[in-house]
Amino acid sequence: MGSVLQVENLGISFGNHAVLKALTFAVQENEVLGVIGPNGAGKTVLLNILTGILQPTQGAISFYGENIIHKTITQRCRMGFGRTFQIPRPFEKMTVFENIVVGAVYGSRMSEAKAKGKAREIIEISGLGSKEDWFAGKLGLLDRKRLEIARALAGNTKLLLLDEVAGGLTDLEVTDILAIVKTVKAQGISIVWIEHVLRTMYEGTDRILCLAEGRNIACDLPAVVMQSPAVHNVYLGAVEA
Ligand SMILES: Nc1ncnc2c1ncn2[C@@H]1O[C@H](COP(=O)(O)OP(=O)(O)OP(=O)(O)O)[C@@H](O)[C@H]1O
Ligand SMILES: [Mg+2]
Repeated sequence: MGSVLQVENLGISFGNHAVLKALTFAVQENEVLGVIGPNGAGKTVLLNILTGILQPTQGAISFYGENIIHKTITQRCRMGFGRTFQIPRPFEKMTVFENIVVGAVYGSRMSEAKAKGKAREIIEISGLGSKEDWFAGKLGLLDRKRLEIARALAGNTKLLLLDEVAGGLTDLEVTDILAIVKTVKAQGISIVWIEHVLRTMYEGTDRILCLAEGRNIACDLPAVVMQSPAVHNVYLGAVEA
């Protein structure tokens, strides 16, 4: 299995605040890589760098072996990056179906007809089949999360980046999200999944990266990371800069 994404020595500072210092990790083909770390560790900043919203101060990023550091947000999207946002903001006055079609047309320059076909396929995967004509503004939290995932899959997504899609959900709803991620993985899509809900990391990932003090402090099988003394120290606030 080759690497889909390779991140080397990545760093970013905001003024004097170094959020990422020297972050190195890789995502393998068809892997679900969980990302954990305390609040403010830089998890969302990492997704913003990967998708081109933020430019890093240092480091290299390659996607299927191609250096993407100078690619724009749109170019990365069309190369196969899809992402969800921590706070879903769908077009509230458009239907579920329309929201996904917009994602498909923008994300991959598909024709409208093709985008509609793709949207139907994704609506089924995301479990929104019975609500495709609902206005997005009428959806509850779980369905907003489903739509967020669906929108992120609407282009020719090869790498799906999830930012806390299980946050705020009940245990039963988390089971639904785990099932969606499993189906997406079964389609050959690689996934980076940031989450605080530990159950998702145990049950839904192949490996977990723990981010703290701007670095990779553990990246291994879920059981290994969860047992790691370094990871325990991070959550007890005992890690040193
Ligand atoms: N555009 C920005 N300008 C300045 N500082 C920023 C910017 N974006 C993020 N930060 C800072 O970077 C740090 C990391 O933020 P980030 O949102 O990545 O944390 P996180 O790991 O996603 O946390 P959480 O688990 O709470 O979502 C925070 O201190 C935040 O205030
Ligand atoms: Mg975040």
